[in-house]
Amino acid sequence: MKLVTAVCAAAVALAFPAYAQSQNQYQSTAYRGSVLHFVADPATSAQPYEYYEDGVLLVGTDGKVKAVGPAAQVLAANQQVNVVDYSGKLIMPGFIDSHVHYPQTEMIASFGQQLLQWLETYTFPTEKQFADKTYAKSVAKVFLNELARNGTTTALVFGTVHPQSVDALFEEAQVRNMRLIAGKVMMDRNAPDYLLDTAASSYADSKALIQRWHNKGRALYAVTPRFAPTSTPAQLAEAARLLQEFPDVYMHTHLSENKGEIAWVQDLFPESTGYLDVYNRAGLSRKRSVYAHGVHLRDDEFASLAQTQSAVAFCPTSNLFLGSGLFDLQKAEAYGVRVGLGTDVGAGTSFSALQTMNEAYKVTQLHKAFTDTPDERRPLTSLKAYYLATLGAARALDLDSKIGSFKVGNEADFIVVNPNATDLMRVRMQRATTIEDKLFALQMLGDDRAVEKTYLMGKRIYVTTGSQSGYEYNQQYN
Ligand code: GUN
Ligand code: ZN
Repeated sequence: MKLVTAVCAAAVALAFPAYAQSQNQYQSTAYRGSVLHFVADPATSAQPYEYYEDGVLLVGTDGKVKAVGPAAQVLAANQQVNVVDYSGKLIMPGFIDSHVHYPQTEMIASFGQQLLQWLETYTFPTEKQFADKTYAKSVAKVFLNELARNGTTTALVFGTVHPQSVDALFEEAQVRNMRLIAGKVMMDRNAPDYLLDTAASSYADSKALIQRWHNKGRALYAVTPRFAPTSTPAQLAEAARLLQEFPDVYMHTHLSENKGEIAWVQDLFPESTGYLDVYNRAGLSRKRSVYAHGVHLRDDEFASLAQTQSAVAFCPTSNLFLGSGLFDLQKAEAYGVRVGLGTDVGAGTSFSALQTMNEAYKVTQLHKAFTDTPDERRPLTSLKAYYLATLGAARALDLDSKIGSFKVGNEADFIVVNPNATDLMRVRMQRATTIEDKLFALQMLGDDRAVEKTYLMGKRIYVTTGSQSGYEYNQQYN
């Protein structure tokens, strides 16, 4: 098919949706629009992204990226392709949520306490319900649909202490062919009896889940001790044993979120030199270890995280909501710590990566205002924010060889964003003259309303435009 033929095909497909259905399923598909993705960290590169105003993302029938570039160039070089026209829209990699709790979906926005009281009042009673797998499945569906609506295509997810909560989530993710990392909570003390496991049972249950799910399709497993206060040293040792036995699984927990929590950890582990030291001594810090929050880390702890190649999930809406404090992103960057953005729903207040970037910007504004002289203030730029939600998060999760950018061969998880989704966004966008400014306005004003379509491995799973709306991965769940 010549360029002109390809463009005509796109026009016909738009006018006659039935034609689109009949497009050749054996051909690659060229998604045409304004294409943006990151290739490097804006903190260290002068040209960290590629942006093609009239661009094409070419996706093969295997669901992987075949090419990306200016539309004319990619279409001229690839003539036998289906063309889908998203001109006027932004095509970018799906967002990656580096820390979220699916069982807390329904308790999002529960009023006003700090971490430890919030866990007792809302979280533990809510998580109790996940002993029932049918219930867990129903919440997993709502959760994964929320991710799709918000353009999030991969997440690192806490289950509950119940192994069946993780089965329910992975089964639902499998229906959507979604790359998801999740794990069963390990928790053998300082929580209600109905949520406790033991060091031995948490090892056995986690091991069975690893064998059942890790690397099955797009699923990946995370060994998930909740946080130091709810695990005995014996349980942390069992978590480390799992990491030894299965070196490519993840480790996912919380770290230095709240001052009361930090004092409690010091009481429980008097021999440790600090919160991170508890995990380090247990042997839990290495590449593929992800620590949520790190709001109150000391300098030596930042250095240690960098040295072990552990990552931190920066969760601004949660840190503000629970009054935990202000993460020092600038310091993490200076120490070379890998950072991803997390929503941390249910303490986080939005599933939207755009809204999470919005709050991340404000956290960096406040942090600098409180701690540094004005000259040293460096608020989060829009480029860095989108990087943190895409390629940066993929690097933090050691998945950048698969997702997070449109590198040829990567899995084609992408979203179609409407920068003019609301009247206010439309008038604001008219003033934006640079891509940085457009992205900033989108991050400050946008949310799920700006996400029009979500694709996983080249398959559309969510759409909201015109007469079409809903989840497309499996009609029975619409
Ligand atoms: N620390 C331990 N458990 C939790 C949790 O569920 N949410 C948050 N934000 N912090 C935690
Ligand atoms: Zn959390």
